[in-house]
Amino acid sequence: MQKIKGIPVRHFDALIIGAGGGGLRAALQLASANLNVAVVSKVFPTRSHTVAAQGGINAALANVLPDDWHWHMFDTVKGSDYLGDQDAIEFMCREAPRAVYELEHFGIPFSRLKNGNIYQRKFGGQSQNFGGDQAARTCAAADRTGHAMLHSLYQKNLQAKTQFFDEYFSVDLLKNEAGGVQGALVYSIETGEPLIINAGATLLATGGVGQLFRTSTNALINTGDGLGMVLRAGIPVQDMEFFQFHPTGIAGKGMLITEGARGEGGYLVNGAGERFMERYAPNAKDLASRDVVSRAIYTEIKEGRGCGPNKDFVYLKLDHLGADIIKSRLPGIRDMCLTFLGIDPIEKPIPVYPTAHYTMGGIPTDINGRVVMPAKTSPEVCVEGLYAAGEAACVSVHGANRLGGNSLLDILVFGRAAADHMISTLKTNNYQHNLDSDSIDKAIFHFQRWHNMTSHAEAISAESIMDLRNELRRVMEEHCGVFRSKQILAEGVDKVQAIIDRMDNACIHDESKVFNTARVEAMELENLAECALATIISALYREESRGAHSRVDFPERDDKNWLKHSLYFKGENQPEYKPVRTKPLTVDSFPPKDRTY
Ligand code: FUM
Repeated sequence: MQKIKGIPVRHFDALIIGAGGGGLRAALQLASANLNVAVVSKVFPTRSHTVAAQGGINAALANVLPDDWHWHMFDTVKGSDYLGDQDAIEFMCREAPRAVYELEHFGIPFSRLKNGNIYQRKFGGQSQNFGGDQAARTCAAADRTGHAMLHSLYQKNLQAKTQFFDEYFSVDLLKNEAGGVQGALVYSIETGEPLIINAGATLLATGGVGQLFRTSTNALINTGDGLGMVLRAGIPVQDMEFFQFHPTGIAGKGMLITEGARGEGGYLVNGAGERFMERYAPNAKDLASRDVVSRAIYTEIKEGRGCGPNKDFVYLKLDHLGADIIKSRLPGIRDMCLTFLGIDPIEKPIPVYPTAHYTMGGIPTDINGRVVMPAKTSPEVCVEGLYAAGEAACVSVHGANRLGGNSLLDILVFGRAAADHMISTLKTNNYQHNLDSDSIDKAIFHFQRWHNMTSHAEAISAESIMDLRNELRRVMEEHCGVFRSKQILAEGVDKVQAIIDRMDNACIHDESKVFNTARVEAMELENLAECALATIISALYREESRGAHSRVDFPERDDKNWLKHSLYFKGENQPEYKPVRTKPLTVDSFPPKDRTY
């Protein structure tokens, strides 16, 4: 086998980093075009976080109520608080029905209506006819839609002969002598051996950064590894200040109670038994957009109207829905409540509280998934050979606030679009340059930082990775949560920076006890910390309230000064900005309006 600097090298047409829905949809497209595809995943593929998606995927199929892709587009632009790029949103909403029918043909067991059509439930922020009555747009496989999707995609990839590198951690992107990206240095978690994967095109589908916050719906694996890699490669991340808090996490634990529970007719009550969402969103009520519902819950609790002995949560009531609906449409929610709370939602309400859920920002891409290098290079240029899709990317279809049901759609539509572009590029230009020697040296140096054992004496005086990670998550929760201000954010920036400085003195263990997973945890912490700084600095500088970014010192949205995307480059202490693409592909723009539900 070829070796470079002593490290074995494998060659592929395409490298996909991350085996969630976006990565697997892209891999399937590439492998079906007879390309040689490697998928690298730090966990077994069907443990990727897509598996945890519950409520469903949006597409204007009109199976339950009248619908139209253009209404879906309107809702998504409004939901984004007008920060989403309207060309990308139009593309996603038009493609949605095809994406769902493709899934159906891949074998996903959607819930069905009596007439055999795919079941669609009501979800937040959805409307008919550009802001009219509630729509029903979310195609569901009970409350385990992501699980069904991920398993179907994995099986299709096995059939298509995609090559999986299970339990390999990606350390860094590798560049070629022409300056493009051409694969990555990866690391076998089982053996501790590094491997160079040299590929004509590389797609980052590494998911979001939900581990930034202490209470989260996200798996422990969601540490922003792709974002860390691009930042180290000199590429910025976009709109990181917009982080979604899902209104209904199990109080004190954070696990997701799907918005589908409210879509099926569940509603929130405060300590006085009042349906308080009627005051905050008179039309949509409990199915207002997530940022609106999360803020309403915080406000109820802050003003003393919470439930329980400490008045620190609200209740989600499902008991009026009846056992049949709960057992058929929300079986996973019932299981979770029985297991973790000892509560049966058929009989009792569920204590809920907002919980960190989704990274709206990410790696800037165009609608073909190509990573773009904005601002500093004018006009924008694409990074040769590099793509991103799904939660790791910022296309931007979610802007300042994502609508529920649009994330599974995003991963399918843009996973496929990126793969289609990779296929056409690789077919016409299937060359490979030599890998750049400096880029390999840097990646090896980074890897060895955590690979070389530390002496026992050093280990005793060193910082613990886990302590630093826990502290980082606490700081982010306290300083960059739902409500923000200049003072609290500025203090948070200093605290995050101090944690990063302390990482210079971190080590992983005593020599005799080091596990490779400890090295992974150290590299994850580096990625998390980079994302934390990007998030809190971007939040500090955005002096307005828009979508999920709520500044108590700047409570209004300010389209005159702030209708723009932020870009954070590693090492900079202030973001740069680029314009929002307000022009759709074929229809008229939706101009910014007051956003009420
Ligand atoms: O509530 C949910 O089921 C989450 C869906 C989503 O984030 O899209």
